[in-house]
Amino acid sequence: MGQFLEQIALVTGASRGIGRAIAEKLAAGGATIICADVMDCDETVEQITAAGGKAEGLVLNVTDSEAAETAVQGIAERHGRIDILINNAGITRDRLLIRMTVDDWRRVLEINLDGVFNVTQPVAKVMMRKRSGRVINIASVVGLMGNAGQSNYSASKAGLIGMTKSLAREMGPRGVTVNAIAPGFITTPMTDKLNDDQRDALLKNIAVQRLGEPSDIAEAVAFLAGPGASYITGIVLNVSGGLYM
Ligand code: NAI
Repeated sequence: MGQFLEQIALVTGASRGIGRAIAEKLAAGGATIICADVMDCDETVEQITAAGGKAEGLVLNVTDSEAAETAVQGIAERHGRIDILINNAGITRDRLLIRMTVDDWRRVLEINLDGVFNVTQPVAKVMMRKRSGRVINIASVVGLMGNAGQSNYSASKAGLIGMTKSLAREMGPRGVTVNAIAPGFITTPMTDKLNDDQRDALLKNIAVQRLGEPSDIAEAVAFLAGPGASYITGIVLNVSGGLYM
């Protein structure tokens, strides 16, 4: 407890699901959380505050590079620092390639990959000036193993993994670590769409025989953001219960 005291953490896509669990976990460790999302983050902020933590909401569409830069400058001015960035906002638009529209392709890349560029670039400047920081990108095991019907999504997540490794090399000399987490199948609004048959089929391939919870990802984030992980950079931490190995 208290390992993130006095720290400022920016979490994108924090209104629900994995992003909310990450925000709550870092807040429980003492960080002040900036909950950024295209939707309002009122519930996340209320839950953190009710538990005695500190959080503020920020309405931000990560595809808007100018808005991202202005928002990051505002955080840096108000708080003087950004210690942790969690790039978590993401969407799926699943379809087999032959039925995929150009809009399905572009929208997923625009949010899942361009969005990370838009937020990380201004944050990197703040972190590198302070010569410290942690960037954690929420990728996916499908960026490593592929998945039929997710060519757009897996391309965005594979791209994010490549970006993570390049940024780890760029920013390591300035005291900033950059890592990715590759979740497997986690129960959130994003995956609620699956029917029981699809869930059962998935379970057969998960070694620990259960679907993941958002808290499983939040625990991994807390480790990579914490003091014990200062010598870890450029990795992809697979948190999938053995779905991928
Ligand atoms: P979710 O759909 O429950 O939450 C995603 C959040 O991102 C929402 O709050 C949404 O409003 C926000 N968001 C969407 N577009 C945005 C934009 N343009 N700007 C700002 N915020 C935006 O999804 P979930 O499951 O919590 O996913 C979180 C991350 O984890 C995503 O990057 C997803 O790709 C990744 N992931 C999820 C897995 C799962 O099984 N649920 C598996 C592997 C990766």
